[in-house]
Amino acid sequence: MAITHAANIHARSLLAWYDRHRRTLPWRAPAGERPPPYLVWLSEIMLQQTTVATVGDYFHRFVKRWPTVEALAAAPIDEVLSAWAGLGYYARARNLHACAKTVVEQHGGKFPDDEAALLALPGIGRYTAAAIRAIAFDQPASAVDGNVERVIARLYAIETPLPDAKIEIAARAAELVPSRRAGDYAQAMMDLGATVCVPKNPRCVICPLMQGCKGRAQGLAEGLPRRAPKADKPTRRGLAFVLMRKDGAVLLRKRPPKGLLGGMDEVPSSAWREGTLSLAEALKEAPVPANWKVLEGGVRHTFTHFHLELSVARAIATTAGLAKLAPGAAWVTVDKMTERALPTVMRKIIAHAVQA
Ligand code: ADE
Repeated sequence: MAITHAANIHARSLLAWYDRHRRTLPWRAPAGERPPPYLVWLSEIMLQQTTVATVGDYFHRFVKRWPTVEALAAAPIDEVLSAWAGLGYYARARNLHACAKTVVEQHGGKFPDDEAALLALPGIGRYTAAAIRAIAFDQPASAVDGNVERVIARLYAIETPLPDAKIEIAARAAELVPSRRAGDYAQAMMDLGATVCVPKNPRCVICPLMQGCKGRAQGLAEGLPRRAPKADKPTRRGLAFVLMRKDGAVLLRKRPPKGLLGGMDEVPSSAWREGTLSLAEALKEAPVPANWKVLEGGVRHTFTHFHLELSVARAIATTAGLAKLAPGAAWVTVDKMTERALPTVMRKIIAHAVQA
């Protein structure tokens, strides 16, 4: 696409700003260098739906344990899921592993650099494909995530609400991408969105794009992008069953491989349903007969599509009760919990049962 004069000025101002203010991030190469595609891919998958601050430690641990895509592909999936525990959106971890295997088996361990081949890999969508092309291969690809959407909506005072505005935003964003230093440009946009063009109280006075920003000129910046109102999330409720052995070990079982928290470990629970919870009914769904005691308080957690409120019942395991344990269930002591693929909601349940 022909680069307009204004686009050229925006890209230049942004790159000059980036040269002075770029963030130091664990996956970022020093100025003038390109990071290995494996590290770009790994960080971009981790950063989907998760903050830079949270991702840092996970990224270090993954790279130390699996320094190459070959090493990650060869790891057992359960180890990858437990290393991912706490990052959320666990389908990402399963896709991460599947993608590593595909890169090794079909691409000789080298990430492809063209869009179609990247999009064919598990867990790689348009944004991630563009981020990898730009950052790892310096191709002029336009990587538009939520931060970049905000920058572009403000720069052009796009008042159409999201998600309808996505097409216009993507077109505007693509026009701005320079043919040189595309990787730095992509990361500069991300840094600008994260540190200057922030959702509340944007720091317009220090923004390298302030001169040309239509949102600022029209006094609209902070209110952009507009969003169509979202439907409220429903609340589901259930009763979690923490069965404890006398030595403090807790009964865990594995969730089915597909769907919410797929393949992760869990504390057994009644079904999670909308509406009020009948404890008497929920107690009938206990995994084994035992002297279940419903604890005070409970646990709340929010998933993408619903809020979850769980009451927690606790019991000490008796030999009679154990005869009925499902295959795949395991006793896990608290000191071994970190080795398990335990999602945050399950950790909250166990913490509640141990403290109450
Ligand atoms: N957010 C998503 N990808 C990022 C990256 N590569 N650097 C900084 N923030 C990001």
